[in-house]
Amino acid sequence: MYYPDELIEEVRARNDIVDVVSGYVRIQKKGNSYFGLCPFHNEKSPSFSVSQSKQMFYCFGCGAGGNVFTFVMQYENYSFQEAVKLLAQRAGINLPEAEYSEEAKKRDSQRARLLEVNKEAAKYFYYQLRGKSGQAGYQYLRKRQLSDETIKKFGLGFANMASDDLVRYLRTKGYDDRLITEAGLGSFDEKYGMHDKFWNRVMFPIQDINHKVIGFGGRVMGDGKPKYLNSPETMIFDKSRNLYGMNFARTARTDNVILCEGYMDVIAMHQAGFAQAAASLGTSFTAGQANLLRRYAREVILAYDSDGAGISAALRAINILKEVGLTGKVLDLKPYKDPDEFMKNLGREAFEERIRNAENSFFFELRILQKDYDLGDPESKTRFHREIAKKLCGFSEEVERENYMEAVADKYHIGFENLRKLVYTYAAQTGLAAPAVRPKSGIQKKNDPRENQKKPQKLLLTWLVEEPELWPKVKKYLSPEDFTEDLYRTIAGKLFEDLDGGRINPAAIISMFAEEEQQREAAEVFNTKLMELATKGEREKAFHDILLSVKKNSLDYFSARLGADVLAITKVVAGKKELEELSKTHISLD
Ligand code: CTP
Ligand code: MN
Repeated sequence: MYYPDELIEEVRARNDIVDVVSGYVRIQKKGNSYFGLCPFHNEKSPSFSVSQSKQMFYCFGCGAGGNVFTFVMQYENYSFQEAVKLLAQRAGINLPEAEYSEEAKKRDSQRARLLEVNKEAAKYFYYQLRGKSGQAGYQYLRKRQLSDETIKKFGLGFANMASDDLVRYLRTKGYDDRLITEAGLGSFDEKYGMHDKFWNRVMFPIQDINHKVIGFGGRVMGDGKPKYLNSPETMIFDKSRNLYGMNFARTARTDNVILCEGYMDVIAMHQAGFAQAAASLGTSFTAGQANLLRRYAREVILAYDSDGAGISAALRAINILKEVGLTGKVLDLKPYKDPDEFMKNLGREAFEERIRNAENSFFFELRILQKDYDLGDPESKTRFHREIAKKLCGFSEEVERENYMEAVADKYHIGFENLRKLVYTYAAQTGLAAPAVRPKSGIQKKNDPRENQKKPQKLLLTWLVEEPELWPKVKKYLSPEDFTEDLYRTIAGKLFEDLDGGRINPAAIISMFAEEEQQREAAEVFNTKLMELATKGEREKAFHDILLSVKKNSLDYFSARLGADVLAITKVVAGKKELEELSKTHISLD
C-alpha cells in the first residue's frame, strides 16, 4: 500500500519519538537528549541517544539511527509499511484502505477467519489444561520440568478425551464446520460425524513471527504413536516458511539463532534463558526458513539431536544455510540426546560453554566425512584428502578459501602446498572455484577513499542542521550536486529547500527513505559527532576546512566526468570560481 508523503509525515509528527522509544527502552534525560542502553547491540554504558528536538535516535556505539519509523522497523523487525501502520494506529490516525479486488478481499477475509478460529481453539486448549479434565496434561508438562510461567508463555494447552468437544465449542462461537475442517481442527467421518482432530494430547500452539496462532502440534502423553500430531498445511500455515519459537527469538537481540529439532527443545531453551532458540515444524529445515532466519541473525547454531538422524539433518541444514549466506556452527550435546535433556542435566552455564565451543560447520562436515575413511591406510587417506580438496573448491571467495586451506592443512597434517595444488587441480577440472573475488568489506574499509570523501559531506550536513543560522552565509557556495553520494544529495536537496523556507525538519527527511539501511545512514548524516572545539577561531577554521573539502571533492568529481555529463562542464567552471573565492573568504560563525 502506498501512502502519500503528507500522511506519512502526519503519522510521524503525531508520534513523539521520546514517547515511542520510552515504551521499549529506559531512557533518561541528559542535557538536550535522552540516553539509554542501546537495544540494538550489547552494551554496559548508555550510548543510545534520543533527541526530542530532532525527533531522531542515534547510537554512538553501533551507528543504529533514524526517526520513529526506523526505530519501530528495527525494534519490531517491521517493514516501513508495517511501521507506518503501527504508529498510525497508536496516534489514532486512519489510513486509507487499499483497493482490493473481490478475490483478494475474499482471500484476506478467509485468512482472517482461519486466524480467528485458531486463536479460539488455542484459548480453548489453554483453559482445558487448567481445568479438571486437563490435569493429566498439566501433570505431564510439570513432570517434564516446565514452569507455570513457561507453560503460559508458550500458551500450552490440552485437548481432552472427548472426541468432539472442540468442534461443539467452536460452533457455539459461530464457526461453521467448513472453516473448522479447513483449519485442520476437525474433520467429517461417515461413522463418527464431525469430530476433533486432536484429543488426549498436550497442545503446542504454533505462532508466526507476529504471535498469531497458525497451527498446532499435539503430543501424546506417553509412548503412543504418532508422538506428535500436527495441523495440516493451510492457507495460513506454511510449514516451510515458519519456525517454532521464532516469534520470541526474533527479538532476542543476539547475533545468533539456536536452531533445534523439537518443540520441547525450544521451550526448554527459552526456559533456561536462551531466547534465541527456534525449531522447524516437524519437517526438515528448508530454504524458506533459512531466509526467515537471515532477517534476524548472522550465525545459526545447530543444536540438533546427537544421534545419526540428527547428524544427517545437520549436514543438510548446513548446506541450506550456506545457500542463503548464513554461517553455521554445530553444537556438541553429548552425552545427551537433545537440548532439552542437556539442559535438564547440565544446565545453562554448561550449555553456554558448548555454544562457545561450537564447531565450525565446515570442520563438522569434514569430521563426519572422515568416518568413511581409514587414515591408517595411505590409499584411503589419499581419497579422503581428495574429498577435502573438492569441498574446498566450494568457497568462491579466494581469501576464505585460502584461510580454510590453511586451517585444514594444519588440522589434518597435510602439506599446505600439496593441498593447494590439489585444490586448484580440482578447480581447473571442474571449474568449481569462481575467479578470485576480493572481500567486499573488512580490512580495506578503513582506507576506502570513498569513506574519506563522505566524512566532510556528513559533517557539513550535520553542522547545518545544528546551526541553521549559518545557511545564508554559505548558500551561495553550495548546491545539492556538491554532495557526490546519492543519498547525501537527496538529503541536501530537501534540507536546503527547508533551510530556504526557514524551517528544517530532519526527521521528515528520513522518512523519504523506505529502506532501513538508508534511514540509518541518513540518521548518521544528522548525528555525526562534531569536534569539540574550544575557541571560536578553531571552530571557524574547522567549518571552513569542511566546506572547502566538500567543494574540492565536488570539483574533482565533476572534472572526472567531463565529457560524460552535460552538467559537469558548468559545475566545473562554477566550482573553480567558488573554490577560489571560498578559500579567500572568512566565514564567521557568529
Ligand atoms: N515430530 C513430528 N511428528 C512426529 C515426531 C516428531 O512432527 N511423529 C516433529 C516435532 O516437531 C518434534 C520434532 O519433530 O518437536 C522433533 O522430534 P523429537 O525429537 O522426537 O521430539 P521432541 O520435541 O524432542 O519431543 P519430546 O522431547 O517430547 O520427545
Ligand atoms: Mn526431546
